[in-house]
Amino acid sequence: MKSIVIFYSRTGNTKFVAEQIATNLESDLRPLIDKKDRSGPWGWIWAGFDAIRKKKTQIEEFNFEPGKYNVIFIGCPNWAGQMPPALRTFLEDVDLNNRKVVLFCTQDDMGAEKVFNNLRLLCQGANIVAEKSFKKVLKNKDEVRQAVREWLSDLKL
Ligand SMILES: Cc1cc2nc3c(=O)[nH]c(=O)nc-3n(C[C@H](O)[C@H](O)[C@H](O)COP(=O)(O)O)c2cc1C
Repeated sequence: MKSIVIFYSRTGNTKFVAEQIATNLESDLRPLIDKKDRSGPWGWIWAGFDAIRKKKTQIEEFNFEPGKYNVIFIGCPNWAGQMPPALRTFLEDVDLNNRKVVLFCTQDDMGAEKVFNNLRLLCQGANIVAEKSFKKVLKNKDEVRQAVREWLSDLKL
């Protein structure tokens, strides 16, 4: 089974989960890079504004052939119930029709249902086989490492 993990991460939490998935499944690992600087307090504020207004952004070139993979993992942080602009930009361009997709997100402490609702809207035609959220990842690395392993072993891919 050939898989890929595509993710956006601003501060490393989603990156950590993406790396765990890729290590367990020997997947390709591909970050989405937003050309807009989103670091620091202003980066945080604009991140919220842009996500809520469903803004797109410029991302670094991302050549991707969905047909090369049996499973495509897609992950992002929860930004006020929305996805980051880099992921929106990617999803609005890519054709995931009939592809097997697994969605994951990271967050601090709130429900992730809204993020998944928004992600599903942009994955039209995809066969979404699972969704999973992880909380406060970098503060709980060992637990998250274990949770990812158990989740993947339960997944029927
Ligand atoms: C603009 C913004 C909005 C956020 N909104 C939420 C939220 O609504 N609920 C939540 O639990 N966490 C929220 N967070 C926290 C992030 O989802 C969380 O820290 C995530 O794991 C960060 O992932 P990253 O390190 O991969 O960027 C928000 C963070 C940012 C920057």
